[in-house]
Amino acid sequence: MSATGHPKRTTPAQIEALKGVRPIVALTAYATPIARLLDPHCDLLLVGDSLGMVLYGMPTTVGVTLEMMIAHGQAVMRGVARACVIVDLPFGSYQASKEQAFTSAARIMKETGCDGVKLEGGAEMAETVAFLTARGIPVFGHVGLMPQLVNTNGGYRALGRSEKESDKIRRDAIAIAEAGAFALVIEGTIEPLAREITASLSIPTVGIGASPACDGQILVSDDMLGLFSDFKPRFVKHFANLAPLISEAAEAYASEVRSRSFPGPEHTFQPKT
Ligand code: KIV
Repeated sequence: MSATGHPKRTTPAQIEALKGVRPIVALTAYATPIARLLDPHCDLLLVGDSLGMVLYGMPTTVGVTLEMMIAHGQAVMRGVARACVIVDLPFGSYQASKEQAFTSAARIMKETGCDGVKLEGGAEMAETVAFLTARGIPVFGHVGLMPQLVNTNGGYRALGRSEKESDKIRRDAIAIAEAGAFALVIEGTIEPLAREITASLSIPTVGIGASPACDGQILVSDDMLGLFSDFKPRFVKHFANLAPLISEAAEAYASEVRSRSFPGPEHTFQPKT
């Protein structure tokens, strides 16, 4: 409880302390109503830049702006009482320098009230992670498949199949952990590599397309809810199948509007007699 009597949100330090205790449950959220529904079940909610593709129909996350992340971060914060809320730094808002990263991250923290930021990158971002954490900004790292690098790393394939590739991911993970990140997303790697990295780090790993041995798991909520019926990556499990339900509801609504059976008398306002 806080001094005001409200239950407190989970802190990044509490997430870090979950390593070796129990699995960390994380999902993405981009809006208030879904955040409200997910909050009681999750340790961490990520306002991921995946919102560019999921909500805005962008081809990649590269076009996502700081303003978009802040607007959706604010929306999620309005729906959350207990989960730790982390907001992604979008492409172009942190790679130029550690000072640029601090300015962008501080803006996100101040304008949303979230608990920390996530950034993609390995050894090349370690100095930035150390700079942010030394200045009061908790950082969630992200190594392995990094969607913001789609234009230079050759697309969305599982990484770590060659010795060279797995060595790099191993070194990236160690560099980000040593720089002070409180936890680390491992995305899209071969399973034994994610397992090995998890065992070697003192901070928790949160896997997506990685390994059940990771210290936690994260999925894009819209994926696990089955909102995209046309495409299901191998690492996604549909815990619900909402796409056909929405489609059926829209069909029923259209039919009732066309037949004038909706709205019924119970949905209209009559003059008081
Ligand atoms: O942007 C995002 O949603 C993410 C998660 C998939 C880890 O980075």
